[in-house]
Amino acid sequence: MNIRLNAALNDPTLETPALVIDFEHITCTYARFERAFPSGYVYYAMKANANPVVVQHLARLGSGFEIASMAELQLALDAGVDGKRIICSNPIKHPHFIARMQDVGVYAMVVDSTFELEKVARYAPGARVYVRLAVDNTGSVLPLAGKFGVDAATAVDLCDQARALGLEPIGTMFHVGSQCLAPANWVNAIRAAAEVWRMAAEHGHNFHFLDLGGGYPAGHYHTPSIPTVEDIGADVMAAIATYLPQRDDLMLVVEPGRGMVGESGRLLSAVFGKAERGDQTWLYLDAGVFNGLMETYEGFPPVVSHLDDAALVRPLRTYTLAGPSCDSCDVIARDVVLPEVQIGDRLVFFDAGAYTNEYAAAFNGFPIPAFVPLLPGEQETRVGEAIYDLVPG
Ligand SMILES: Cc1ncc(COP(=O)(O)O)c(C=O)c1O
Repeated sequence: MNIRLNAALNDPTLETPALVIDFEHITCTYARFERAFPSGYVYYAMKANANPVVVQHLARLGSGFEIASMAELQLALDAGVDGKRIICSNPIKHPHFIARMQDVGVYAMVVDSTFELEKVARYAPGARVYVRLAVDNTGSVLPLAGKFGVDAATAVDLCDQARALGLEPIGTMFHVGSQCLAPANWVNAIRAAAEVWRMAAEHGHNFHFLDLGGGYPAGHYHTPSIPTVEDIGADVMAAIATYLPQRDDLMLVVEPGRGMVGESGRLLSAVFGKAERGDQTWLYLDAGVFNGLMETYEGFPPVVSHLDDAALVRPLRTYTLAGPSCDSCDVIARDVVLPEVQIGDRLVFFDAGAYTNEYAAAFNGFPIPAFVPLLPGEQETRVGEAIYDLVPG
C-alpha cells in the first residue's frame, strides 16, 4: 500500500492516461541498491525511464548513469552529471556519439566486435573499453541474449585488439536478461567473467572494471514473490569473493533500470468503450500497447485493478483489454478477471515506473525517423551526411 500514490491517483482532476511516479520510492530503492552492493557503484540504466525529473532526482542522490545514445548523454549532462559518472553499455554506437562521449569525459564504453573497436579507436582514441560477455538469460522474463555479447576467447581477443589499437581494456560486463528471477544467473555470469579475467591476465591485461548489468526484477507479474535486491546482492558479493582475485581498486558496477524505478510508478487509465464480440467482452482504454503498455506485448501480463475500491464488490467478469488505437495489435491482455467494469471506470496498472512512457517516445533516446516530405513538383535532392564523415578520421 503506497498512501502517497493512492492519494495522487484518486485525485478526480487527474486526467488519464497518467503515469504517476513516487520519488520517495525511488530514493528508497536507490538506498537499497547501495546497501546491497556495499563496494559497488550504481549506474542507473536511463532507458527504463528517462524523464528528466527522474534523471535529475537520481543525479542528486549520487547515481551514475548507463547511457546508450546522444540524447541520453545530453540528459545526464543537463542534470549536472560529471562525465566520469557515465558509462555506455550499448555495444553498437554512432560515431558522432562516440566522439561526443570522449569530449565530455565519459568513463568507459562497451565493445563486442572488431568493427566497433576500430570505430571507437578512430573516434575516441585512447578510450577505456570493456567487453560485453554473452551469458545465460534463461532465468529472465525478457531475455536479451543473442543480439549482443561474445564468448570468453573472443573477449580476450578483443582486448588484445583494443590494446593494439591504443585503447585501454578495463574489464567486462554482462546482462542476465530483464526481470531476472534467478539470482543464480548472476553467480554463473560472475564465474564466467572471472574466467575471462584470468585468461586476460595471462595476456597481460590488468582489469579493474566488473559490470553486472541490469535485470533486477520489480513487480509481481509472474510470481507471487521475486528475488529482492538484497537477495541478489548477497549472492553476488559472495560470488565475487569466491571467483575473482581480491583487489582494492575493483570497480563494481550495477546498471539497474526496471529494478530502480519499476515499482515507483502506477499508470492510470480510463475505460471509454465496451463491446460484446462473440463470447468476449472487450474494454477499450485510453492507454494501450502504443501508449504506455508496450511491455504487456513482451511477456509482462498487466497487474491491474479498479481505482475505486467500491467497485470491488461487483460480480467478477472476464475481459479482453484493448488500447485506444485502431491497430488490431493494440490488445493489452486477454482473459483478465475483474469486478464488473463500466464505461468511465478508472483502472490502475501497478509497477509501471519502467518501460512505459519510454516506449511511447524515442526509446533509449534514439530519434524517431524524421518526416521528409517529397511534395509533387519538388526538385531538390536531399543528401544525408555519411556517418563516417561526421568526425575527421
Ligand atoms: C546495457 C543495459 N544495461 C542495463 C539495462 C537495464 O536492464 P533492466 O531494466 O532489466 O535492469 C539494459 C536493458 O535493456 C541494458 O541493455
